[in-house]
Parts: sequence; structure tokens; C-alpha cells
Amino acid sequence: MIISSSTDYREAARRRLPPFLFHYIDGGAYSEHTMRRNVDDLSDLALRQRVLKGVGDVDISTTLFDEKLAMPVILAPVGLTGMYARRGEVQAARAAEKKGISLTLSTVSVCPIEEVQGAVNRPIWFQLYVLRDRGFMKNALERAWAAGIRKLVFTVDMPVPGARYRDAHSGMSGPNAPFRRILQAMTHPAWAVDVGLLGRPHDLGNVSAYRQQKTNLADYVGWLGENFDPSIAWKDLEWIREFWKGPMIIKGILDPEDAKDAVRFGADGIIVSNHGGRQLDGVLSSARALPAIADAVKSDLTILTDSGIRSGLDVVRMIAQGADGVLIGRAFVYALAAAGQAGVENLLDLFAKEMRVAMTLTGARSIGEISSDSLVRRAL
Ligand code: FNR
Ligand code: LAC
Repeated sequence: MIISSSTDYREAARRRLPPFLFHYIDGGAYSEHTMRRNVDDLSDLALRQRVLKGVGDVDISTTLFDEKLAMPVILAPVGLTGMYARRGEVQAARAAEKKGISLTLSTVSVCPIEEVQGAVNRPIWFQLYVLRDRGFMKNALERAWAAGIRKLVFTVDMPVPGARYRDAHSGMSGPNAPFRRILQAMTHPAWAVDVGLLGRPHDLGNVSAYRQQKTNLADYVGWLGENFDPSIAWKDLEWIREFWKGPMIIKGILDPEDAKDAVRFGADGIIVSNHGGRQLDGVLSSARALPAIADAVKSDLTILTDSGIRSGLDVVRMIAQGADGVLIGRAFVYALAAAGQAGVENLLDLFAKEMRVAMTLTGARSIGEISSDSLVRRAL
């Protein structure tokens, strides 16, 4: 199959993965309106073509939280990544390191913190949810710090899980789910051998290490459901602010008032995100939410964003809307599922090339030169 963009990787991932995994990645909450708007609102932002500006060489590198990055792109935390490719989190971390950026490891990764950080020299980032079991949270923070991790992404938009209709239909959950998953594995033999057999243990590595018992995939949905804490408030995060000495980045901000609360709380950064349209369907796309948030807090903390970014052009659009950098979720996961570490490396090369073209043709020599003037001003 010829690969020239993240769209091609999505198709390759669809062919390779058992449907219950493909739809878990590809799907969103309820009627998936917000998930679609994330992509469509971004492509509706018209880049402002400027010519004969003598741009010459374009520098896409940047610095976030004192970390030098080859481009303003971080791999987003994605649960169960080790089910999409053999020891998937390790492969993704290696690809990120090779291309001069970082991976954010999800709380609910297959590979535990130590396995992933042990495979690369560059410190990864770690993502944590607010969970009922505060002992688990403290243990995870201690392990992350001991492994050398300093950037903590705190995800706050999952006090309850949003309903994903596709999961019930695909065999991720719903009637006869375990039986259906086995049937699907048998009809996807390349995945079944590479990941199903050789990619074991299939475990929630971070959770099992704490519970000292295996936490398998059948427990996954149940463990998440039981452990999210809908009563969570800013004050419950204060001990973590005290405890964690590195940068703390709040993920899941969609409103300027919440962004101001994050500043008052003492966050070092925020991630403007609707969780890739996987939580509350009907909320604003990140592309639309971002400008008002940037107006409110741009001078106070670092602003990252995700949801819907599928190309280097989208990265430029988000920076033009006020972000300092972006995270990519599905785009890298499709590439990982399709072609492992090499797929993610290639995807990052594609993003870099796309960014260079977009910057050259909008007249920006560096990330700092991308601004609202890089877009044609018109309301979405
Ligand atoms: C996610 N996301 C996510 N976020 C998080 O903080 N912890 C997690 O464990 C997960 N797990 C997860 C699994 C899958 C399969 C997906 C697709 C996403 C959300 C993720 O970090 C990010 O916000 C979105 O993926 C961004 O949207 P795009 O780039 O996928 O459109
Ligand atoms: C999800 C969780 C794991 O989006 O964050 O599926």
C-alpha cells in the first residue's frame, strides 16, 4: 500500500487491526459530531498564502518547558497503545526520540513506565487521571519521578467516561465481547501473531504493578469506570501540585474561565482538548475553543492543544490560533498500528515536511513567526 499521508495510515490500520481495536481508536462519543468538527473546523481555517517573501530555510524547532523539540509536536497519551503494535508504547517512544520529540505515556498503557523509559534516553512525559484510588496516583507519580520523568500531564476531562456507541457494536464491550474478539483476532492473523502472541503480556502495566496482580483487558473498561471520580475539584489537585516538582500540564481545558482557574491553581501549561471528541459530544472543537483561551491566558502559561490534528498544515493552523505546540493522538496511532516504529518515524517526517511547506507559503521562517496573520481572518 502506498503511504503519503496520515489518511493512508488510517486505512492501513483499519486493514490490519481487529475491528474492536480499530473502532476503539477511530471512534468518538455519541453521534461523533465533535469528533468530526475537530477535523472539519481545522480544515476550514484558511491559511493565508504569501509569496516572494524570500523565506529561504525554515526552522520548525521550538522549546516547551525548557525542552528542545525538533518540532512543536508531542505524541498524545493513548490508552492500550501496546495492543495496536507489539510493545507499542516502546516503539512509539523510540520513534519520538529518533525524531527529536517526546511521547506522553498514558496511565492505562500496556507497557509500564519503567519499560518505556528504560528503552529511550530522552525523558518521556507521563499522563495521569484523577482516580478514586489516591494510593495508585501517588505510587504512579513516585515511579514516574524515579524513572526520570519530569513533565506531568494531568487529564481532567474524564470525571465520567463518555459513551462510545461503536465499542458496544465492535466487540470492545457488549454481548459476547470476549468471544467476538477471539474471532476477530483469528481473521486478522498478522496482528494476531505479532501483537496477540508475541506482544504479551497484555496487561495494564502501571496498574498491575501497583495492585500486584494482573489487570487484563477484560478488566479494562470496568477498572476505568470504577475508578473515575466525578466529585473531583481543583482543591483535590493541590497535593499533587505540592508533590510534583516538575512542570504540571492540565489536559482537557475547553473554556477560558477554566483556563484562568488553571493559572490560579499554578499550572505550568494547559492542553486545550476535547479528548479527540471521545467525551462530551456537542462541545466546541479545539480549533474553535482555542482563540478565546489564548486571549485569556497566553501570557500566563504554555498553551498546547490537540484533537483533530492530521497534518503539518493543521499544526501551523493551531499555532496561528494561539497554541505554543500540539499533541497528536490518532494520527500517530494509525501509523504505529500500520507499520510500528518505522511508521511513526515516517509520519513525523511527513508532518515536518508539511509544516515546512505551510510555513514557506505563509511567509514564516520560524515557529515564532507564525501568528494570527498566517490565517485569513474570517469567522469559522
Ligand atoms: C485517547 N486519549 C487519551 N487521553 C488521555 O489523557 N489518556 C488516555 O489514556 C487516552 N486514551 C486514548 C485512547 C485512544 C484510542 C484515543 C484515540 C485517545 C485522548 C488523546 O490523548 C488526545 O486527546 C486525542 O487523541 C486527540 O485527538 P486526535 O488527535 O486523536 O484527533
Ligand atoms: C479513552 C480513554 C482511555 O479516551 O482516555 O479511551
